[in-house]
Amino acid sequence: MGFIGSGHIGSTIARLAVEAGHQVVLSNSRGPETLADTVAELGPRASAATSGEAAAAGDIVVVTVPVKAFPSLTAAPLAGKTVVDTCNYGPARDGHIPELDSKSLTSSELLLRYAPDARLVKAFNNIYFKHLLSLVRPVEAPDRSYLPVAGDSASAKAAVTAFIESIGYSVVDAGSLADSWRQATDTPVWGTPYGPVSNEKGLPVGADAIRAALAAATR
Ligand SMILES: NC(=O)c1ccc[n+]([C@@H]2O[C@H](COP(=O)([O-])OP(=O)(O)OC[C@H]3O[C@@H](n4cnc5c(N)ncnc54)[C@H](OP(=O)(O)O)[C@@H]3O)[C@@H](O)[C@H]2O)c1
Repeated sequence: MGFIGSGHIGSTIARLAVEAGHQVVLSNSRGPETLADTVAELGPRASAATSGEAAAAGDIVVVTVPVKAFPSLTAAPLAGKTVVDTCNYGPARDGHIPELDSKSLTSSELLLRYAPDARLVKAFNNIYFKHLLSLVRPVEAPDRSYLPVAGDSASAKAAVTAFIESIGYSVVDAGSLADSWRQATDTPVWGTPYGPVSNEKGLPVGADAIRAALAAATR
C-alpha cells in the first residue's frame, strides 16, 4: 500500500493495514525524514519515501491529502494504479473551487483531472479517523461496520473492497465516481451514522443504514 498523505486518516488506514499484514510506504509533503516517528511506531512493515516512490511502490495507492493539494500531485506513478481517494472538499481549508462549489464535478472527478489514468475508488472519506480505528471488527462479528465505495472500474473497486475487508470492514457499493456526491461532505452518510466525534468509540453501522443514508442524499 502506498500513501500520498500520512495525516490523521492516512496514518490510521496505514496502521490498520499494517495490523492486517500489509506492507505500507508512507509519504507527505515535507519529506520521508519527517515520518520517522510514525514509521517507527508502525514497525517493520512500514517505511517512508517520497510521494512518487510511495505511489510507485503500492499495488493500491491511497491519496489522502487536502483537496487544495490535488494540483501538486505527481500523476505519472498513479497511471494504471488502483487509487483510493479519501478526500473531502471544504472551502474553509481548500479555498473555493468553482466546479466543486457548483457541484458540476465530484471531488473524485476533480482528482481524476490531475491523475487521469488512475483507477480511482472513493472510500474512507465519510468516517472520522478515530471511529475508523475503533470500529474494526472481524468478518464474523454481528456489529461489523460498512463503508460506501464508489468508482468506475469494477476491478479497482474489487481490489479496494478486498483491502477494506482485510482491515475489518465491509462495503456498500455506492456507484460510480459521478455518483460519489452521495457520500461527500455534509451528506447523510458523511460522519453521522458512526456517531458524534465526541464519542471516540463510534457506533457500528450496518449495510442497510449505509444504503438508506446514500439514498437520502440530495444535491
Ligand atoms: N480527519 C479525518 O477524520 C478524515 C476522515 C475522512 C476523510 N478525510 C479527508 O482525507 C484527507 C486527509 O485528511 P487528514 O485529516 O488526514 O488531513 P491531515 O491530517 O491534515 O493530513 C494531510 C496529509 O497530506 C499531506 N500532504 C499535503 N499536501 C501534500 C502533497 N502535495 N503531497 C503529498 N502529501 C501531501 C500532508 O503532509 P504534510 O503534513 O507534510 O504537509 C499530511 O500528511 C482530507 O481531504 C480530509 O478531508 C479526513
